[in-house]
Amino acid sequence: MANVAIIGAQWGDEGKGKVVDWLASRADIVVRFQGGHNAGHTLVVGNQTYKLSLLPSGLVRGKLGIIGNGVVIDPEALLTEMARLTAQGLTITPETLRIAENAPLILPLHGALDRAREVARGENKIGTTGRGIGPAYEDKVARRAIRVCDLAEPDTLSAKLDELLLHHNTLLRGLGAAPFEKAVLLDRLLELAPLLLPFAEPVWELLDEARRAGKRILFEGAQAVMLDVDHGTYPFVTSSNTVAATAASGSGVGPGVVGTVLGIAKAYTTRVGSGPFPTELFDDTGRLLGERGHEFGTVTGRPRRCGWFDAAMVRQAVKVGGIQGLALTKLDVLDGLPELKVCTGYRIGGVEVRHLPAAQGAQASAEPIYESMHGWKDSTRGARSYAALPAQAIKYVRRIEELVECPVTLLSTSPERDDTILMKDPFEG
Ligand code: IMP
Repeated sequence: MANVAIIGAQWGDEGKGKVVDWLASRADIVVRFQGGHNAGHTLVVGNQTYKLSLLPSGLVRGKLGIIGNGVVIDPEALLTEMARLTAQGLTITPETLRIAENAPLILPLHGALDRAREVARGENKIGTTGRGIGPAYEDKVARRAIRVCDLAEPDTLSAKLDELLLHHNTLLRGLGAAPFEKAVLLDRLLELAPLLLPFAEPVWELLDEARRAGKRILFEGAQAVMLDVDHGTYPFVTSSNTVAATAASGSGVGPGVVGTVLGIAKAYTTRVGSGPFPTELFDDTGRLLGERGHEFGTVTGRPRRCGWFDAAMVRQAVKVGGIQGLALTKLDVLDGLPELKVCTGYRIGGVEVRHLPAAQGAQASAEPIYESMHGWKDSTRGARSYAALPAQAIKYVRRIEELVECPVTLLSTSPERDDTILMKDPFEG
């Protein structure tokens, strides 16, 4: 029985929550391996709606949740989310949640720097979630991050804060933002220590034991391949690697443990924040997709930009992300549209290319090359088998498979958990 990693194949918000929940119900352990509380997953179980940002989705299904070392953890956000979900009836204890002792922390100064930088960028802003994700990852690679394990060593914590504040207060003052006081930060971290440390451990060891015991592990990605710091539309990306390979390094297992990689894509495209979006629609169709698809950010509430399905981009995500099967969501949002367009490549400076090049200027000027298809009249909403789909909808899915060079192994036809057409069980390898 294989393990499964699930990652976004576009710019995030592909409807991961529902698919992750379905997979989590079949897994023993669910691991978050990158990102932080910039992510937002909405899970609907019975008449309860759970909104998760940092906690692994499996907790909702009573499965062991692990926050891996590749995640950046805002302790305040984590405790708030834990309290909110506990109030909704979930049990979150060191029995159900484990946190990598070597995961870096997000402190209030990271959020302040994130926001001050965005203001300073003006029109060129990235459109970050303002939650300090980028600055926290910067500190990690600069080797000055405060990590979960440091909470157990007050002297280490104090010395690290000196180094951190020297760096951050200089930057914050330069950006016209208020500096932070060491005593305030240190006191708060020492207050948080007894609340967090009971959850901390070398999770790589736990995962190794679980693997050897034949437990099913689900690696739950956040954001998506086109927001990957290396492979995405840089610099309009998040600050972590979002590809499936990160599931290994971000949790402390070998690459062979990651198992089947399932990518999630919407049947059209959306994006929040700034950056290139070749198939973006500024017309009534774009507005219709946004309204029907309820395209508002889970974390920030921002309206999402909407456009046609970009098969060239998803094909690239399939290759660099290691995606072996695609879960296609929100097909029903396209119901009734007379004509559908799918982007097969781009024209840049009069030259046709198959994929988005890395250069920022080239990405910004990429014009989509479209293939048009007839839409379908009948509803696909709630379909639970291929036979229940209009012929033209099947044609659309088949064409996507061809263009992205990856089979569609799961089709989601409504937010309801059971409105899913499964072609291949990813846990079967
Ligand atoms: P950051 O991750 O807050 O630094 O934001 C960087 C970029 O990633 C921005 O364009 C955000 O809108 C985008 N982003 C971050 N997290 C998500 C997500 O979960 N879904 C969609 N976009 C995201």
